[in-house]
Amino acid sequence: MTADRHTSRREFVRGLLAAAISTSVPLRLPAAEQPALEAVAADKGILFGSCLGAVRMADPHYLDILRRECSVLVPENEFKSYVIAAEPGRYNFAPGERIAGFAKSSGMKLRGHTLLWNRPEFMPQWLRDSFGALSARSGEAYLRKYIRHVCRHFGAQVHSWDVVNETIDPQTGQVRDTPFTRVLGFDVLRIAYEAAREYAPHAQLVYNDYMSWEAGQAETHRAGVLRLLERFRRNRIPVDALGIQSHLGNDGNIHAAQRREWTAFVDEAVGMGYRLLITEFDVSDRDLPADIDARDAEVAAVAREYLDLMLSYRELDQVLCWGMVDKYSWLQQFRPRADNKPQRPNPYDDAYEPKRLREAIAAAFASAPRR
Ligand code: G3I
Repeated sequence: MTADRHTSRREFVRGLLAAAISTSVPLRLPAAEQPALEAVAADKGILFGSCLGAVRMADPHYLDILRRECSVLVPENEFKSYVIAAEPGRYNFAPGERIAGFAKSSGMKLRGHTLLWNRPEFMPQWLRDSFGALSARSGEAYLRKYIRHVCRHFGAQVHSWDVVNETIDPQTGQVRDTPFTRVLGFDVLRIAYEAAREYAPHAQLVYNDYMSWEAGQAETHRAGVLRLLERFRRNRIPVDALGIQSHLGNDGNIHAAQRREWTAFVDEAVGMGYRLLITEFDVSDRDLPADIDARDAEVAAVAREYLDLMLSYRELDQVLCWGMVDKYSWLQQFRPRADNKPQRPNPYDDAYEPKRLREAIAAAFASAPRR
């Protein structure tokens, strides 16, 4: 099917997808001949993108996939405080600027991740060692100054900030005990969001976490996040949206989805007026068989079911994968498969070829209701 000069891209996309969905055989066109994921998503009012980090930036094939498929990017590590504030008194923006520059030159939007990762292991060592000795007044002054510098440096290019990341301990459902909370208590979260609102007034302010739909410690994690969201509202803390990382198969077992409990969780969050994002989508195949076709098929099926459920919420209008090519995924190191075979968690394989997961994402966007 070709688009004549009068056929709009949107009509062309719809026509091609209708043909693809109507055939029993999965569309196996090379990705370059398929409608881009960002186009299929945009047709429903959804931004689609992925993360980009220093290692990935060095790979021209990876960048080609981003240019073709994505309309929003998020730095994988370069906006984190252990990079920006690696040394006391200095702000190292260079790594983040490279990614922001690529996004700008590629006409893509940019998410910010993250202003306060309230977990000691992801703080700069010097800050982890020194913050506890500060008074509450000095601690607040430090945090506000850090957020002011970072928000003002990247300015209006960042349309959405993960202001706070992963502050709920999934074991207890409580706000994690960290050097920040020991000095400032729960107020550290108010300070972070109020500073972000003041210094990035244009940006969507997000609470980002990895609560899962899978059985296990997820129930405690989900309950803790809901209590946190309620407390934000009760204390009029400016949080606009919940970032649901969506690392499927990683925090439990890919076969143990709690669909009813998960829907109740998401319903409660939107019921409090929060918008939604999928911020770090990938699918761990750690618990799946070694056979690649079988693994890819199951990963695609789980992804499609999850995305269909999530995209039924019109409050959800941003979907980002945590990487587009398997070999760069954090999952290769985090919890390897028992057979030590590389995992296949992303839409493209290591030959930069699209996988069934890519088709599942495209199909989920194609069948989603328009925002
Ligand atoms: O850049 C250094 C390199 O110079 C050094 O030789 C090497 C030795 O370990 O470390 C390199 O830094 C690593 C960095 O990734 C860049 O590759 C860090 O050790 C490593 O801890 C870091 O891991 C990142 C992790 O967050 C911690 O920041 C992963 O790439 C990144 O995918 C992961 O992403 C997180 C999200 O931010 C939050 N949600 C969970 C998600 C997965 O853990």
